[in-house]
Amino acid sequence: MTPGPAGWARETAEGGSPSGLSPGSGPYQGYVYAYPHKTAYRPLEPRPALREVWAGEPMDALFLYLHIPFCEMRCGFCNLFTRTGAPEELVAAYLDALERQARAVRDALDGPRFVTAAIGGGTPTYLSADELTRMFDLTERIMGVDLRAVPLSVETSPATATADRLAVLAGRGTTRISIGVQSFIDAEARAAVRPQRRAEVETALGRIRETGFEALNIDLIYGIDGQTEASWRYSLDAALEWKPEEIYLYPLYVRPLTGLGRRARDWDDHRLRLYRYGRDHLLAAGYEQVSMRMFRLPGTGSATEYCCQSDGMVGLGCGARSYTSGLHYSYEYAVGAGQVRAIIDDYVRLAPEEFAVANVGFRLDPGERRRRHLIQSLLQAGGLDTAAYRERFGTGVTDDFGAELERLADRGWLEPLTAAGLRLTPEGLAHSDAIGPALFSGRVRELMTAYEAR
Ligand SMILES: C[S@@+](CC[C@H](N)C(=O)[O-])C[C@H]1O[C@@H](n2cnc3c(N)ncnc32)[C@H](O)[C@@H]1O
Ligand code: SF4
Repeated sequence: MTPGPAGWARETAEGGSPSGLSPGSGPYQGYVYAYPHKTAYRPLEPRPALREVWAGEPMDALFLYLHIPFCEMRCGFCNLFTRTGAPEELVAAYLDALERQARAVRDALDGPRFVTAAIGGGTPTYLSADELTRMFDLTERIMGVDLRAVPLSVETSPATATADRLAVLAGRGTTRISIGVQSFIDAEARAAVRPQRRAEVETALGRIRETGFEALNIDLIYGIDGQTEASWRYSLDAALEWKPEEIYLYPLYVRPLTGLGRRARDWDDHRLRLYRYGRDHLLAAGYEQVSMRMFRLPGTGSATEYCCQSDGMVGLGCGARSYTSGLHYSYEYAVGAGQVRAIIDDYVRLAPEEFAVANVGFRLDPGERRRRHLIQSLLQAGGLDTAAYRERFGTGVTDDFGAELERLADRGWLEPLTAAGLRLTPEGLAHSDAIGPALFSGRVRELMTAYEAR
């Protein structure tokens, strides 16, 4: 997936609800790729004008994120904001709306300078080569950004990574291409309800390498029914054949009530075992670990993982979020697949002035800003730079979060504090999906619980 936003910033899979760090509470509570989680967003009343929201924000190092909520199929495990089978007219209407939104957002920003960009989904390459060209044209023209001059990450899938689309991506300056493979074994892909053929995957990877991008990322999933250490190794080795600059290893999450919850404890053990196996295998192959999920070949460009401490993210598209230092907002949010269609249909009908305000969001007070910094830094293998924290906030992280950090240390998940800062132990990193949710504030937890109970 696309980093942050590498996340992150990207919309991605998340699991259950936040919980404490009690030994019984399991390592897979939720994937924290952004804090606060979108289920903590609420309608903003009155809806603030984007011009006010962005007034006084630094404009010199912004992240531009475009969200394309379309896929050719709905994978059984996926709870991203996306719909399948969108007809050509809907894609055209979506690009029209994206254009209106881009204009409104551009008018609210005072001389923005974008330093990095990502296009995520869904599957951006669900768009045809011509539609992709239109998307690039409108973005560059309206947002005033030369995408060839900044790092640009784009997500694709095996079935849609066709030569004509890849040529457009390369021609428009894509530096990193991220492809979801999940498993190189057809039966495992089927078990994850992702009907795909190994031959198609290999052809897509071959085309990506032929087209030539600075960095290739391959997403793999572990914890699939029937997956063993041997079959996991087979997929890891098949991915390594392509010498990808990055590999993301995702523990499988399933939506509650799918029936898979029954084997919760065994499944936790299964995923932890495969995580350790995968981590060790990639480390032995010369990769470095950037976070629980991300591994990178040393010396292959800058970290594409979304720089978690940057506040300025401008999101375009109906599932995209935007961040300023004091407000995280988006157009709308939904989890249920049924709602997604309705939200996209609404989005494509919005009048220009509707794009000039923030609809749903979360306001970050100074405490929440500190907490966001703590969570997003600590979940990186490099950890949290305590001096940088003090410089940014004027307080010490161990004063602000002493009790929480002590609980992590008691579990053996935090290294002793050094001059370099605070870092998780390898076991702490393995438990990132328990540590992240445990560090949520009471307020965020309440909002998320209330959302999930609906
Ligand atoms: C936007 S997709 C990648 C691009 C493209 N849509 C595809 O699937 O090939 C994001 C990635 O998130 C991961 N992912 C999504 N849902 C997941 C889940 N429930 N559990 C684990 N990983 C998941 C998958 O590895 C997937 O490749
Ligand atoms: S193709 Fe990718 S984004 Fe679409 S449903 Fe499958 S995993 Fe999710």
